[in-house]
Amino acid sequence: MNNLNDTVAYFNGKFISKEHIAISPDDRGFLFADGLYEVMRSYEGRIFRAQDHIERLNFGARELRFNLTDFGHLIEVAEKLIRDTNLTRGDALIYIQVTRGAAPRQHRFPPPETPLTVYASARGFASNMEEQKHGLKVILIPDLRWARTNIKTVGLLPNVLAHQEARDRNAAEAIFIRDGFLMEGTHSNIFAIKNDQVLTPPLSNHILNGITRRAVLELCDELSLPHSEQPISEGEGPKADELFITGTTVEITPVIATDGRPVGSGRAGEVTRRLQEAFRKMRT
Ligand code: PDD
Repeated sequence: MNNLNDTVAYFNGKFISKEHIAISPDDRGFLFADGLYEVMRSYEGRIFRAQDHIERLNFGARELRFNLTDFGHLIEVAEKLIRDTNLTRGDALIYIQVTRGAAPRQHRFPPPETPLTVYASARGFASNMEEQKHGLKVILIPDLRWARTNIKTVGLLPNVLAHQEARDRNAAEAIFIRDGFLMEGTHSNIFAIKNDQVLTPPLSNHILNGITRRAVLELCDELSLPHSEQPISEGEGPKADELFITGTTVEITPVIATDGRPVGSGRAGEVTRRLQEAFRKMRT
């Protein structure tokens, strides 16, 4: 197993050892969180929906008016990283980050020719099977994030604080509430099952267009499970028959309690299990 710093990573066009990467203190990612990221998953060396991740990154780059808005080349970069770090067996996560580059600190954009900073790395990763089987607990927390969380920026302080609060309160994820409605988790989307209908909050500028969320909606079609993208109130959500979260790292993980109160039977639900099984087939 490689030590974290010996690992090869991608930095501004080169594959180099992580310990030789030097990011400028003037980098706008460091100074302003002026950057985007993606987390992709590979299963046995194959990246799950890489194109979708890159399209979301391109979307973010257009929204933030970066001077480059097509990151298609990063798919090959990610594939090479998986090979070069011997991660073709088992699961891995590929992290990509792009910032507006390094320039003397001022709020306006730097000169248009300023190169973006582009970084990618891969590491082995295993799902938390215990949580996927038995579920996890969540807390509900006010959504204090900015109003463009459909853009996957590295400005994640509210997510970090909310997630830590969940950990401090003996839970494993926090679900953001805005104007009385469930939005999403700190690093996941949320689904509810009520009267055999699969529900998830509609896309808006307040939630991330999750790749796993989209895959689950496709699976609902395949399994002929009635489903609807509709608002879920903070009163109704915890009273659902089942709840689960989705995301690249959590895949589909049942939620068995909100703020200490059991959801449904207090155990992973049947519809959630069916979707988990279908997802396992889909990703291979
Ligand atoms: N986060 N919502 C938020 C706020 C997220 O950060 C994520 C993923 C998701 C799920 O999206 P996807 O299914 O495309 O992974 C929803 C990544 C994994 C992270 O920050 O580590």
